Amino acid sequence: MRVLPLLATLAVTFGFATMAWSLPAGNAASHTAGDKKSGYVYAEPQTRAMQDDDFTNPGFLWVDKGKALWSKVDGTAGKSCAACHGADAAAMRGVAAKYPKYDRKAGKLVDIEQRINLERVEKMGAAPLEWESDGLLGLTAFVKLQSRGQPVAVATDGPARQFWLKGKTYYETRRGQLDLACAACHIANHDRKLRSETLSQGQSNGFPTYRLSWETLGSVHRRFRECNSQIRAEPEPYGSDDYVNLELYVASRGQGLPVESPSVRK
Ligand code: HEC
Ligand code: HEC
Repeated sequence: MRVLPLLATLAVTFGFATMAWSLPAGNAASHTAGDKKSGYVYAEPQTRAMQDDDFTNPGFLWVDKGKALWSKVDGTAGKSCAACHGADAAAMRGVAAKYPKYDRKAGKLVDIEQRINLERVEKMGAAPLEWESDGLLGLTAFVKLQSRGQPVAVATDGPARQFWLKGKTYYETRRGQLDLACAACHIANHDRKLRSETLSQGQSNGFPTYRLSWETLGSVHRRFRECNSQIRAEPEPYGSDDYVNLELYVASRGQGLPVESPSVRK
């Protein structure tokens, strides 16, 4: 067990005190799957309430932008997403719960943001949208919303296997000045306090997420970059193979958790 030395290191580095921790009261049962717990379970009651109500959830500002883009004709083919997939997007039900997914043409994994951009480029003749732009966040949130409540169900076998293994290795490799792996916080020390935060299992079922501290919606790659920076490691570029492989591994840790995008976190 490396738990105690790790906490001592973190305590010195961050100046936090270890504390006993208990689950906040509230409806958390629907945000768990066996021993897997969504970040929702760790969120404060007022943050959960904000997420629970689509009218107060700020993520829906982006959902509305995504919905508008879904039906907007763009590019040389004169098409919109709706032209092929239907105005109500019902065809997208359950789709995002399976991403990242192996793409035969690309010969590697693509995540949902990349799939959306491939659709724009290849099917519409339109320009790809920038990572963290309102447009890509909006379309991602809108497409993922169609899977809300569906269990995360990513494939980790077949052609996805080698990429999943790379993601797992990334997750377990120590890096940065603090020499910590993702696993050191989110597997070995979840449910413990790290400064003012209770460490969660680091699940990805709620992304894109509206973070109160970001004051905007953000992708799971933005979160990965922030976690890398916290341990003073060099963040990987948005959309890099390293992060997409990592994203599959993280999603697989949360198999069965309900998609809750767009979630709200501190
Ligand atoms: C020093 C401890 C630490 C390390 C190492 C760390 N994280 Fe985090 N991570 C946090 C904290 C703190 C948060 C915010 C509170 C929480 O959800 O735990 C967080 C949040 C997350 C979340 C969002 C969870 C949610 O419900 O919104 C994900 C996903 C995540 N981390 C993934 C990773 C990955 C992948 C790595 C490795 C690249 C990593 N983390 C490394 C501390 C860490
Ligand atoms: C010209 C028709 C056309 C347009 C326009 C189009 N798509 Fe598609 N899309 C398809 C077809 C056909 C497939 C399934 C075969 C494939 O993957 O190419 C697909 C596949 C997808 C998938 C993957 C489904 C899965 O099960 O993995 C997603 C997600 C998607 N489209 C989203 C979009 C979005 C978002 C837009 C607008 C930015 C869009 N599409 C525009 C025809 C289109």
